[in-house]
Amino acid sequence: MRIYDIIAKKRDRFELTDEEIAFFVKGCTEKTIADYQTTALLMAIYLNGMTDREMITLTNEMAHSGELLDLSAIDGITADKHSTGGVGDKTTLIVAPIVASCGVRIAKLSGRGLGHTGGTVDKLESIDGFRVSLTPEEFIQQVNDIGICVTGQTGNLAPADKIIYGLRDATATVGSIPLIASSIMSKKLAAGAECIVLDVKVGSGAFMKTLDETKELSQKMIDIGKANGRKMAAVLSDMDTPLGKNIGNTLEVMEAVDVLKNGLQSDLTEVCVVLASNILALAKAVSLEEAEKQVRRSLSDGSAYETFKKLVRTQGGDTLLIENTDKFKKAAFCREVPSPADGYISSMNAETIGLASVALGAGRKTKEDTIDYTAGIVLEKKTGEAVKKGDVLARLYTNKDNCLDESERMFLSALDFSEEKPTEKPLIYDVMR
Ligand code: URA
Repeated sequence: MRIYDIIAKKRDRFELTDEEIAFFVKGCTEKTIADYQTTALLMAIYLNGMTDREMITLTNEMAHSGELLDLSAIDGITADKHSTGGVGDKTTLIVAPIVASCGVRIAKLSGRGLGHTGGTVDKLESIDGFRVSLTPEEFIQQVNDIGICVTGQTGNLAPADKIIYGLRDATATVGSIPLIASSIMSKKLAAGAECIVLDVKVGSGAFMKTLDETKELSQKMIDIGKANGRKMAAVLSDMDTPLGKNIGNTLEVMEAVDVLKNGLQSDLTEVCVVLASNILALAKAVSLEEAEKQVRRSLSDGSAYETFKKLVRTQGGDTLLIENTDKFKKAAFCREVPSPADGYISSMNAETIGLASVALGAGRKTKEDTIDYTAGIVLEKKTGEAVKKGDVLARLYTNKDNCLDESERMFLSALDFSEEKPTEKPLIYDVMR
């Protein structure tokens, strides 16, 4: 078999066989196929798409390109959630302890932030002492001991995806539904959980900008999971506007604690309740109504908060910071951004606001960048709210005062104002099972 012929076949819109896809994945993982040939095939897939069978085979080959986490030693049903990424998306910090406190085992591998989107691993690392590198044995032991573990990659999972994703990122081939679906699902399959709930974002801060594309991506990921015997659901949620008020690692942990401990009610809380209810409904085979009752109870009786503290303590984090979030380190500089106009905020471009937070030091432009955990943005007003000229729209936090002007300019460029109150957009567009 020759990779040249496989590239030509996909270029000419023919369907690849399982053997050809397996040959490709093995070759790019073992580096027997040159990167330029891998990227040529990726571009052909980007342009010509894949059948469902091709996509499921590609996913399985990528999932099997490295280790598979064997969670069979975990006592009880295991669940995982995955967000396609967004700005201010701290849902894992809230959903994971809710679900674990309701008796479903959370075995969750998370990633770091890149570009305008944040990552759970960075948020957890902003808690002094929190360990995000655990061995597979420690991971499984912790889930058995306390019902929850959230860590970075453990073991060598889906190495083909790491290679392919890196090449896609450099060759304008990220935005392909079969490639995104196989990339995400190969990692989820390798991570082993029986129930997987996907939070698929739609809007200006998401990979998918339209609802139709988001539905298609969700359905493909559900199909891949089901073909592999996993229980699947997808929640299609808004990412036109950042989620919640806080963007940036420490700031997001503080907001998550506000939901878990102080019962904060907000758009963030609502998305978390929907995600957690869907995980519980899948894992426990109960109705969504019953699942939601359990979720709201775990928030109101403090059991989700106690589970979060247990997670932090067990992974070495300082729980005094969780008990009193005022003790978190603060950024040296804070700038208030005043409203330039009277009226209503008619839209906030989540991607641009995410990039404004990266300019403050809260995120990475490239994988190698370091981040400032204390940096970020607190939104004082959100889409749909009335403002008067001079009202504080947001507070920008950073340790480098030379980035404030640029970040403020970017932040303001993300906002549109109108005289009329804009029509409210849904927070949850759909739930697909
Ligand atoms: N996230 C992934 O893991 N892969 C993609 O292709 C896109 C988003």
